[in-house]
Amino acid sequence: MRLVDFLFWGALIAWAQFTEVKLPFAASFSHTYLFTLAATILFPPWVPPLLVFLFFFSQGINDPEYRWYKDLFNRLQTGTAAAASALAYWFIVQNMPVSVSGVDVSLAFAILVASTVSFVVNVSLVSVVVHLATKLPIKEIWFHNFGWVLASYLIMSPVVVLLARMYSSSPALLGNWGGWSVILFLIPLYYARFHWDEAVKMREAFDKTVDLVSNTIDARDSHTYLHSQRVAVTAVEMAKAYGLDAAKINTIEKGARIHDIGKIGIPDSVLFKPGMLTDIEYGEIKKHPVFGVELLQPASNYIRETFDIIKYHHERWDGRGYPEGLAGHEIPLFARIVSIADAYEAMTAGRPYQEAKTPERALAEIEDLAGVQFDPKLVKLFREVWEVSPNSWRDREVFIRLYSSKVPSLGSSSRYSSEPEAETSPESS
Ligand SMILES: [Fe+2]
Repeated sequence: MRLVDFLFWGALIAWAQFTEVKLPFAASFSHTYLFTLAATILFPPWVPPLLVFLFFFSQGINDPEYRWYKDLFNRLQTGTAAAASALAYWFIVQNMPVSVSGVDVSLAFAILVASTVSFVVNVSLVSVVVHLATKLPIKEIWFHNFGWVLASYLIMSPVVVLLARMYSSSPALLGNWGGWSVILFLIPLYYARFHWDEAVKMREAFDKTVDLVSNTIDARDSHTYLHSQRVAVTAVEMAKAYGLDAAKINTIEKGARIHDIGKIGIPDSVLFKPGMLTDIEYGEIKKHPVFGVELLQPASNYIRETFDIIKYHHERWDGRGYPEGLAGHEIPLFARIVSIADAYEAMTAGRPYQEAKTPERALAEIEDLAGVQFDPKLVKLFREVWEVSPNSWRDREVFIRLYSSKVPSLGSSSRYSSEPEAETSPESS
């Protein structure tokens, strides 16, 4: 092989890093494998691993997060995958001629195997590292990130063959060098990448929209300003103390942020009514958990896992809650956690007809309701978290001061409370 070949494919591998696609849960995916596999077809098996090791710039050296050992690991990891797939490819091409009805399909078969080997080695190593860094179960990482990547590896395999053929057949396009054809071919591919990127961006945009809606609901009233934000922070701390993994904590955080989204469907005259509610009005309030889930149904692909929280955050341990009157462990765990966080936040926020309680008073009240309104084990856990948490967590005033710079208020503090309560229920909004 010539030096120009080596540098050209090296440059393509380096370029692939700049067009990487971000995946959820801190992983990313680039087209590196495309060029590495093409190099596998074109050159001897020692070339692709060397190319990847030298030209795989996963981190910019000026990046403040740059760590030489991370960089080295990434190079070794992709290099190992490249070596394994190059060896698999050459073994099949040289030792296992495959033909279907007399047609030689060795190359197609070899590239298919090489793609799969590259995928399995790469993704397994990445999954282990993400697992070590985030404590997420490996299965979860695979499911969230790599299901569709395998499909793209296999679908892209013919492209790999094409790239290699274009390069080696040297068409008379600007001199006698196949590199020009490869570059022309890559332009549409570069645009295709944007569509992959869009899928991930859309999910992020959706999360942002949901946040925006939650902030809008909270900001309508001074007593609920930053309410869901604080419920989320509290519920997340409880979930961590409970020992849930990062994916479940993420669900709880999301669910807590939108648990009251169904309030959009409650008339302002009821929602902002000062003082106690009539039975009919309270009946209206009780519709918000089910309405919330109905409202989000069209987005269920993105957010289904939070539905239990939205629907059941007003259920009570003794079965006297709503909407279904579930009791004890019938109530989903996530909803039991959020209901404690929700009640604590509402108690410390107060209502127009009820003074805000001190953190100590609110904690005592939550404890009084263990086994009545709340899961007694979770109340114990809540106390443990409460005791070791900073003031910004326990004290609403401090929390508001800390967060209000990040979330704008709609300036409607003169309005009355959000969700008035029925006489017998110490429950929150
Ligand atoms: Fe609620």
